Amino acid sequence: MRRRLAAGNWKMNGTAASLSEMDALIEAHLSPSVEILLCPPATLIAAMASRKGQHPLAVGGQDCHAAASGAHTGDLSAQQFKDAGATFVLVGHSERRTDHRETDDVVAGKARAAHAAGLVAVICLGETLAEREAGQTLDVVGRQLDNSVPDGATGLNTVVAYEPVWAIGTGLTPTSEQIGEVHEFMRSRLSARFGADGAYFRLLYGGSVKPSNATEIFAIPDVDGALVGGASLKAADFSPIVTALE
Ligand code: G3P
Repeated sequence: MRRRLAAGNWKMNGTAASLSEMDALIEAHLSPSVEILLCPPATLIAAMASRKGQHPLAVGGQDCHAAASGAHTGDLSAQQFKDAGATFVLVGHSERRTDHRETDDVVAGKARAAHAAGLVAVICLGETLAEREAGQTLDVVGRQLDNSVPDGATGLNTVVAYEPVWAIGTGLTPTSEQIGEVHEFMRSRLSARFGADGAYFRLLYGGSVKPSNATEIFAIPDVDGALVGGASLKAADFSPIVTALE
């Protein structure tokens, strides 16, 4: 009932030459049985969306402003991403929360803007190493989930990505039990708030997902896919992750 989703976040990597990686990914998955999403830098969204043609690969932004338009130099609105061909946008990535001091309130505002523009918001959250070591993981995840996911979120317009900050780009991953505990917790929290619809939100795991650990991670209950950073940059790395999800 939840379509599995393999999402790649290119972060601040990639130029026009990198579009060949999308070509190779498409070539390797001409009729994918799972949903594939690439979130390139904003400079590549329009080119990616037009170059993919009729292929079902989805294109997403990495962040959007909470406002629909206006005097916000350097920012981009959800509507502009939609106009460029995106159907998804990431919000609340830990790098945004840290580098740009984004709070849960700010993230919820961005998710609302995404919904208003007709985009699926991929709301990212996760604990730091200090918080995990202090035994606060579920408190932190619960607070971020409650406050970053806005009213109006549904299983159709919202995906939640659990990305422990200490696992991002470090090569470290939580154990399957640790991932399973958080995903089960998120599922029950969403169900408590959204009722039957809580079962329809897709929950992604992110943080050092690679071909060698994807199969194990995708076997964990309530893991509906992955949000992949470094290993999404090359089709040779991302394609086996997509295959593991299929
Ligand atoms: O959004 C994806 C992410 O933060 C994970 O990055 O490089 O650890 O797969 P990476």
